[in-house]
Amino acid sequence: MIENSMFEEEPDVVDLAKEPCLHPLEPDEVEYEPRSSRLLVRGLGEHEMDDDEEDYESSAKLLGMSFMNRSSGLRNNMSVYRQNPNGSCLVPSPRTMVVCTVVLVIAVSLIMAIYLLPKCIFTKEGCHKKNHTMELIYPLATNGKLFPWAKIRLPPDVVPLHYDLVLQPNLTTLKFAGSVKIVVNIIQVTWKIILHSSGLNITKATITSAAHQAKPVEFLEYPLHDQIAVMASEALLVGQNYTVNIEYTSNLSDTYYGFYKISYKDENSKQRWFAATQFEPLAARSAFPCFDEPAFKATFLIKIKRDEKLSTLSNMPKKSTTPVTNGIVQDEFFVSLKMSTYLVAFVVADLKNISRETNGSLVSVYAIPQHLNQVGYALNTAVKLLEFYQKYFLINYPLEKLDLVAIPDFQSSAMENWGLITFRETTLLFDSNTSSARDKKLITAVIAHELAHQWFGNLVTMEWWNDLWLNEGFATFMEYFAMEEIFPELHSDEDFLNLIFKAMMKDSLNSSHPVSSAVQSSEQIEEMFDALSYIKGASLLLMLKHYLTKDVFQAGIEVYLHNHNYGSAQSDDLWDSMNEITNGTLDVKKLMKTWILHQGFPLVTVVRKGKIISVQQEKFLYHVEPENWTTDASYLWHIPLTYITSSCNFTHCTNAYLLDQKSAVIELPEEVEWIKFNVDMNGYYIVHYAEDWKTLIDLLKKNHTALSPKDRANLINNIFSLAGLGKESLEKAFELIDYLNKESSTAPLTQALFQLSLIYSLLEKKGEQQLAARVMRRIEHLLGDKIDQQCWTDDGTLSERELRSTLLAFACTHDMRNCRTTATEMFEKWMKSNGTMRLMQNSLEGEVIRAQELSRIIATVSQSLPGYLLAWDFVKENWEKLTRKFHLGSYTIQNIISWSTSQFATKAHLLEVKSFFESKSEESSQLRCVKEAIDTIQLNIQWMERNLAKLQELL
Ligand code: BES
Ligand code: ZN
Repeated sequence: MIENSMFEEEPDVVDLAKEPCLHPLEPDEVEYEPRSSRLLVRGLGEHEMDDDEEDYESSAKLLGMSFMNRSSGLRNNMSVYRQNPNGSCLVPSPRTMVVCTVVLVIAVSLIMAIYLLPKCIFTKEGCHKKNHTMELIYPLATNGKLFPWAKIRLPPDVVPLHYDLVLQPNLTTLKFAGSVKIVVNIIQVTWKIILHSSGLNITKATITSAAHQAKPVEFLEYPLHDQIAVMASEALLVGQNYTVNIEYTSNLSDTYYGFYKISYKDENSKQRWFAATQFEPLAARSAFPCFDEPAFKATFLIKIKRDEKLSTLSNMPKKSTTPVTNGIVQDEFFVSLKMSTYLVAFVVADLKNISRETNGSLVSVYAIPQHLNQVGYALNTAVKLLEFYQKYFLINYPLEKLDLVAIPDFQSSAMENWGLITFRETTLLFDSNTSSARDKKLITAVIAHELAHQWFGNLVTMEWWNDLWLNEGFATFMEYFAMEEIFPELHSDEDFLNLIFKAMMKDSLNSSHPVSSAVQSSEQIEEMFDALSYIKGASLLLMLKHYLTKDVFQAGIEVYLHNHNYGSAQSDDLWDSMNEITNGTLDVKKLMKTWILHQGFPLVTVVRKGKIISVQQEKFLYHVEPENWTTDASYLWHIPLTYITSSCNFTHCTNAYLLDQKSAVIELPEEVEWIKFNVDMNGYYIVHYAEDWKTLIDLLKKNHTALSPKDRANLINNIFSLAGLGKESLEKAFELIDYLNKESSTAPLTQALFQLSLIYSLLEKKGEQQLAARVMRRIEHLLGDKIDQQCWTDDGTLSERELRSTLLAFACTHDMRNCRTTATEMFEKWMKSNGTMRLMQNSLEGEVIRAQELSRIIATVSQSLPGYLLAWDFVKENWEKLTRKFHLGSYTIQNIISWSTSQFATKAHLLEVKSFFESKSEESSQLRCVKEAIDTIQLNIQWMERNLAKLQELL
């Protein structure tokens, strides 16, 4: 599982392999200010909350005092009654009451007046819920003139061919100046050139043609769609090339998006600035005016003026450095290959590197000077993976260099910019003294993913964001495939299995969406970066690979990359390429369309009668609200079923059957003792053994190794999912895991612990403490011996070390088997050892934590009983700041919403979450992740109603 990435690990699974840690938050990770609920996060407005906003209830909450019997929705109303420092309530004086009443009456009248008036007749800015209807028909530019284009997508009549971009960032004023010359080709005669620009202060625009000199021209700005229109003074003729020249200035961004600034401390604890870019999906337009859609590929020539003491990097190797003025030089980079704007990148900072050549390309890893000693592992790994991919795809990496750069503050884990991959420091730097085995795995996975993008994404790009899965699903698939091939000892397939389980949970909600879904707005595009594009996309490819065989699959990929290189593709192009290989024997397009275009996944019900196996498919859906039921009888998947039976020796006996009807019958050659479908969970479906769970339960009890660890994990997952659906009893699910004291494999243990922890968490947060304690006793009964067997060293294979880390973290979190005593002793010993000085240095440097860690902190806080309301309050109170810093729809925001609400299981909380988002802008309330949060709470409520009484009997 990848930590700190899109799909963050359950936060209570503390990485013990790294260092003994008693508290989920390190003291230097987060700083609490006394008397307030301020969670100080660097970059998130540390000092922006004024004293009036603080109240004593918040500080009590911080100390975990006021979480009981409190609906957080009441909090704001209650806060007028402040506590004085000795704890008693301050009762308002009669004068205060009168003043308050008058103020209240005026406020209510004002609000009503505003409500009753037609929406948005005031200023644009004053309109909270925007009504865009008028603007869409008559789009008005900032100067009041009619903007000549009303759509979000750019018109197809002008295409860019080449950009000459000159930038001068100033790391003292934190502003930058830029000029861009774009050579465009005219596809259809026009008088206007529409392109993207966001937050740029444009000072001049000219158009030049072969026949005419540069002429200043009028330009119009339309911020609602991040567009500008450069108005030609004569018709632009079909087939001709013109050069648009634009000069502008802007500020380096203080978010993680666009061309942004980062402050950090150098070796001498001196504050320094670092400038870097993050353009995907829609932020290239905030660094230079451009045709910011993935299919508008062009070549780029980039020049950057910089302080002579700093370095610059960009996608291409450096061509020359020339002096400009005193202390300022200009770096010019070679012209790029044809590429999309979101892949353009540059970095200006004080950097050091190590490099190695492979197959004609120079691979380098860069970091700030004090971290240069931690880049070795990344360089070795990148070189190995690059060599692997070139062989697998039969296409060389096309650039002469590949840089991997560690950025001190970065929202995601990494970004695949062509030739200049940017990373968080924690996903690139490996320190053999302090980094854990899991860190190594994380670094390897992230490099494997981003290198795969150099082909899937960079060489061949999805045509539009609706097919983001072609980028992210493929990169994720290749990431795990390459890891298994080159680093089998890392057992990354088990991590992938866990991710699939989680993606399926999300995909079984009403709020889910097809892997390939229509998108337009920036929030919709941001929200495509989710588990469905990444994990469902990857697991569908895994299923296809098993169905086609690995050689056919590989050949299909080669055809796809060759057919579309330096261009863009849609899902159908991939299936057509695969069909070129299957050559009519098998219609990949017909099969895969049922998976890419349907939301959710099938539930396959199996009934065995002697040699006859009846199989039947239906949609697996957690019906949350009867009125929302989408009983899509039309949903039919073409399911490549696989199965094993008792009559084979489990290495070479996987059977296959394509279920392309609602139901079918499979006749076995002989009667068998048991049958298990979805071998190793290589298929994206859940199986219900209607009358046969008992057989499988007995098999696990008698001889669990008759099934592979992945099959065992799959059974555990499926039966608990079915219990949630009401198709199987919770009792059977508990019976199935009764064999666990004999289990020693990581995948099934992790899955069982995950399922039981879900139940425990819900019960605990619902106030069912006694029942929760009984669940915990059940876990202890099942896994107590296993926990006792764990030694407190770092020996064994990675898989064993990870299992140890998972079990001990669980035991310490829940105060089991003396775990905390041992951990405390070890921690104290470590504090007294050499490690102490380091620790202090770290705490000194990390006065406050970085905002990049925030979603993880919220996740950790919201897992705990004292913290889960606090986390939600924090999100509510800081919503505007959070969405400004991480932007609406980004997966950081998706994670924050999901973590801070997923523990709720009461109607009051459901109402609270609904009304909070309804009170926000339309863009916020319409987010898919908000719908998902609401679905999840409803599901939790339903789960409780269905199972609470049963649990009482059972435990
Ligand atoms: N292309 C993404 C980075 C990205 C994510 C850009 C979201 C814009 C929005 C990159 O390839 C990626 O997927 N990064 C993952 C890591 C990966 C190993 C799953 C991430 O940052 O979590
Ligand atoms: Zn990616």
